Amino acid sequence: MVWLLISLIFLSIFLRIYCSPLDVLIVSTPFVGHSFRVLSIGEELARKGHNVTFMSLDNWVNMRNKAIERGMSYLSAGRHDAEEGEWREFVLKRIELSAQSPFTLLADFKLLTESRKLLSFDAIVEFLIRQDLKQWDVIVTEKELLQSVPCIAKSQGIPVVTVTSYYSYNTESPPWPFPSYQSGHSENLTFKGRFLSFLVTVGHRFLHAVSLKRIISGSSTTERLCSDNFKYPIESGWEVPLLVSTVLGLEYPRVLSPMTHYVGPLLSRHLLNASLEFNSHLWKWLETKSNKSVIYISMGSLVSISTDLAHAFIDGIKDTNYSVVWSLSDLNKNVIPNVVKLHPEKYHISSWIPQLALLQHSSIFLAILHGGANGVHEALYHGVPGILIPFVNDQFDWSVRVEDAGVGIQLLPHQVTSSSIKESIQRIESTDEYHKKASLLSVLMRRAGGTNEAVELIEFYATYGYDHLIPAPIKYKWNWMAYYNIDVYAIISCFVLTSMWIFKKCCCKCCCWSMNKKLKQS
Ligand SMILES: *[C@@H]1O[C@H](CO)[C@@H](O)[C@H](O)[C@H]1NC(C)=O
Ligand SMILES: *[C@@H]1O[C@H](CO)[C@@H](O)[C@H](O)[C@H]1NC(C)=O
Ligand SMILES: *[C@@H]1O[C@H](CO)[C@@H](O)[C@H](O)[C@H]1NC(C)=O
Ligand SMILES: *[C@@H]1O[C@H](CO)[C@@H](O)[C@H](O)[C@H]1NC(C)=O
Ligand SMILES: *[C@@H]1O[C@H](CO)[C@@H](O)[C@H](O)[C@H]1NC(C)=O
Repeated sequence: MVWLLISLIFLSIFLRIYCSPLDVLIVSTPFVGHSFRVLSIGEELARKGHNVTFMSLDNWVNMRNKAIERGMSYLSAGRHDAEEGEWREFVLKRIELSAQSPFTLLADFKLLTESRKLLSFDAIVEFLIRQDLKQWDVIVTEKELLQSVPCIAKSQGIPVVTVTSYYSYNTESPPWPFPSYQSGHSENLTFKGRFLSFLVTVGHRFLHAVSLKRIISGSSTTERLCSDNFKYPIESGWEVPLLVSTVLGLEYPRVLSPMTHYVGPLLSRHLLNASLEFNSHLWKWLETKSNKSVIYISMGSLVSISTDLAHAFIDGIKDTNYSVVWSLSDLNKNVIPNVVKLHPEKYHISSWIPQLALLQHSSIFLAILHGGANGVHEALYHGVPGILIPFVNDQFDWSVRVEDAGVGIQLLPHQVTSSSIKESIQRIESTDEYHKKASLLSVLMRRAGGTNEAVELIEFYATYGYDHLIPAPIKYKWNWMAYYNIDVYAIISCFVLTSMWIFKKCCCKCCCWSMNKKLKQS
């Protein structure tokens, strides 16, 4: 009886700790690609009975509806200073710049610094600072806010969990040469690749050490707040948990910090479970196709498709027996070649395609994508190989990773012609290696746990904290000399130099002595 009572008490304590609903605040920018991941997490948290508040800005995308649809409440942090049109223009400018490679680094940097207004989310920061964060048990935030939200949360003692699409910063590099962020280098680095990655990594480390990173990417408020409270800008993965929405296997194998978790694609449960609408036009169209006989094309919403690109796709595919589903915004409809309109049985073009449901259809053979993280993950999650055409930012990294993993082929925009498209398709169909490897990645991604795993980690960190995982330099507030071990290097260098000096002196003495002796003898 007593034992039963005791075990009941323990069980109730356990249930209280583990099952009491949490108050969770999700802070997100209105970027579609970034908010997507935290929206999936919020949806799953709400489904498990937690009280989830989603905070974002009101212009750009209707975040309020997205949050409410997924069972969260919405908290508006105001509006972004810039409108979405300005953002689109900025991305298009960067795409244009990257097409004029290779001397675009400086121009790109100039564009980035000029567009700081676009990239800094001061409205969110200012709003968050005014909140009493104590009402929440944990804060979840995304990649674009890694420089600000953790600082603010830490200043009020609230645990924070960060979410990103892949480990992007160079401040934590493996001990071997590793491709730097947004470089598009393969993991099998050439000399040039190693050289450039080294320079970028060291440069990044230097900027980090002198805190310029904050000045470039953070807001003035964050700067003040962070430098008042902390010695270093907060590092995700070291000081706060970091959930990365990919898997090692697509990301190159590497050393991980104690709080970095590769949880795989953060896909919404609701979207994952949705199959194509029965009897819809697309459903009926696909029913007439045999297994692995359809190519899916999606270049995202920001890339404007040129007539040349559209012709390269269609002419490349025309002579093969594949049919095409193309997700193409209405803005771009004028680039479609005539042949497409003449053969609706072979080409299905629509401005809205339920991508995740389509990709799991057995008729899909291959996807032609622009290499954004979400598209790549969705295709590989369903074991579909890809032809990747990267235009900007991390698209270069994803497409080279896809090629290195053997699950697709990278074509740079200037390499896209009808014959290169045709050759790539033939390469993929000539062997089943691409599909086999894509199936392996699909297994890895499912095993990683995705949204489910992310939610469990958030529950764990909200309940138990993560102080036990913080490394010494941060925990004991080492100064930069200790952090970089400079005093040790200095003393060892002194010792080596002194030894050499003494050795040289001794040698001289010996030489002189033996010479003197020789002279005397002669
Ligand atoms: C959910 O959280 C919000 C904001 O923290 C709070 O105002 C509300 O009362 C909470 N609801 C429940 C049911 O706990
Ligand atoms: C890896 O790089 C080395 C040296 O650059 C090259 O010889 C080799 O062919 C590359 N391997 C693959 C599989 O690309
Ligand atoms: C998916 O949908 C089916 C019914 O359509 C339902 O029975 C099942 O529980 C759902 N699975 C998840 C994981 O939500
Ligand atoms: C097509 O694929 C489905 C699901 O993968 C499979 O059940 C079916 O047998 C396949 N059909 C043919 C003709 O191979
Ligand atoms: C397309 O299909 C036809 C009929 O099944 C076949 O004769 C032809 O060789 C196929 N073409 C290619 C390029 O596979």
